[in-house]
Amino acid sequence: MLERPPLSLYIHVPWCVRKCPYCDFNSHESTTDLPEQEYIDLLLDDFLRDRARLDGDNKLVSIFIGGGTPSLFSGDSYRYLLSRIEEQIPFSENIEITLEANPGTAEAERFAAYHDAGINRLSLGIQSFDDQCLSRLGRIHNSEEALSAIVIAKQVGFENFNLDLMHGLPGQSSRQAVKDLKIGINSEPTHISWYQLTIEPNTVFYNRPPALPVENILEEIQTNGHELLKGKDFRQYEVSAYAMSNQESIHNLNYWSFGDYLGIGAGAHGKLTLATENRIIRTRKVKQPKHYFSAVNGRDAEIKEIPMQERSVEFLMNALRLREGFNQAQFEKRTGLPFEKIAKAVESQIEKGLMQIVEIDDEISISTTSNGYRFLNDVLEEFL
Ligand SMILES: C[S@@+](CC[C@H](N)C(=O)[O-])C[C@H]1O[C@@H](n2cnc3c(N)ncnc32)[C@H](O)[C@@H]1O
Ligand code: SF4
Repeated sequence: MLERPPLSLYIHVPWCVRKCPYCDFNSHESTTDLPEQEYIDLLLDDFLRDRARLDGDNKLVSIFIGGGTPSLFSGDSYRYLLSRIEEQIPFSENIEITLEANPGTAEAERFAAYHDAGINRLSLGIQSFDDQCLSRLGRIHNSEEALSAIVIAKQVGFENFNLDLMHGLPGQSSRQAVKDLKIGINSEPTHISWYQLTIEPNTVFYNRPPALPVENILEEIQTNGHELLKGKDFRQYEVSAYAMSNQESIHNLNYWSFGDYLGIGAGAHGKLTLATENRIIRTRKVKQPKHYFSAVNGRDAEIKEIPMQERSVEFLMNALRLREGFNQAQFEKRTGLPFEKIAKAVESQIEKGLMQIVEIDDEISISTTSNGYRFLNDVLEEFL
C-alpha cells in the first residue's frame, strides 16, 4: 500500500559568475545584475502552485538551495523566502536547511546573514585546494579563498557543513588528490561529497577534452582516498557521500530513499506521492531562466506519472546508491508494490554475489555487496 514519504524542498538558483568548463548543471553565466527580488517572488509563486498539489498534512524535513550559485543572493532574500514557505508548510523540528555556496570572498561575506536567516547547513564548492587544479577547472576562486571561506563559515556558527571536492582532475596525481582530502578533513567538516570528475556532453570539456589521469591512477586515488576517509571516521553512505556519525544529509537521504520533494526554480525537478490516488508523479519546471520569468506559463510544471511497471527500478536506482540499501517494508510503502515483484531478481543477484539480504531486528534489509556496489549499473539492469 502506497504511503506518503517524508517531504523535502529543492530550490534552484540558475546563475553563476562564470560557467565552469565541466559543468552541465542548469547554470547560466550572468554578467549583469541579477533580478534577485523578482526571482524570489517567482519562486514563491512556483511554490504555491506545487503546494496545491499536496494531499493531506505535510511537514518539511529538509530544504536544499542549490545551483548555479545560490550564494549570489542575500541573506535577507532567503529569510523572506523561508518565512513565507514556513507559513504554508510547517518545518519539522529538526529541519535541515542547506545552501550551496561558492567560496569567493563576496560570497563568504554573506555567510553570517545566511545563518541568521535560518540556514543551518552550508555546502561549500571547494573542488580542490590546489591552485593549479582550480585554474585548470576554470574556477574563479583560489585555495586561499577556499580555506578562508571554511574559517568564516565556522566563525559565523555553521557547525554542520559539507565540502564538495572533486578528484581525477586534469593533470592530478594520486598524491595531490589525497592531499586535497587531507586538507579538507583537517578543516573538520561534518560531511564530504567526493566526486570523480566526469566529462559531460554539452560542456566545454566534452568538446575539448583535457588530459585526465589514466585508469590505474584513478583507481589508486579511489582506494587511497576511501581508506583515508574511513580512517578519519567519515563513513561512506552513498557513492560519493561521506559523513561523520549521524551527520548524513537528511535531504540526500530522503532523495535517495525515494522520498518526496517539491522542486521550485528554473529547471527544478520534483517527485510526489499522491497516496490517495495511488499515483507517483514527477514534476519539472521550465529550464531557461528567461522562459521561467514568462507570465503566461513560466512556472507551469510538466507532470509525468511514474508508471506502475517502472516504480521498482526508479526506487532501486536511488536506494541502491545507498551503502545500506533499503528494507522490504520501505520498498512496499514507497512503491505500493509487493516485495515479490523484485524477489526473483534479488535472488538472482544474490547468487551472483552482487546483492545480500541482512536481517536486523526483524527487518529485512537488502543492499549490494562491495562487488555489486562497484558494478551498480549491471545490478540495476537485472530489474529493468
Ligand atoms: C550543483 S554543482 C555546483 C555547486 C556550486 N555552484 C559549485 O560549483 O561549487 C554541485 C557539485 O557537483 C560537482 N560537480 C559538478 N560538475 C561535475 C562533474 N562534471 N563531475 C563531477 N562532479 C561535478 C561539484 O563538486 C559541485 O560542487
Ligand atoms: S559555479 Fe558551480 S554551478 Fe556554476 S558553472 Fe561552475 S560548477 Fe556549475
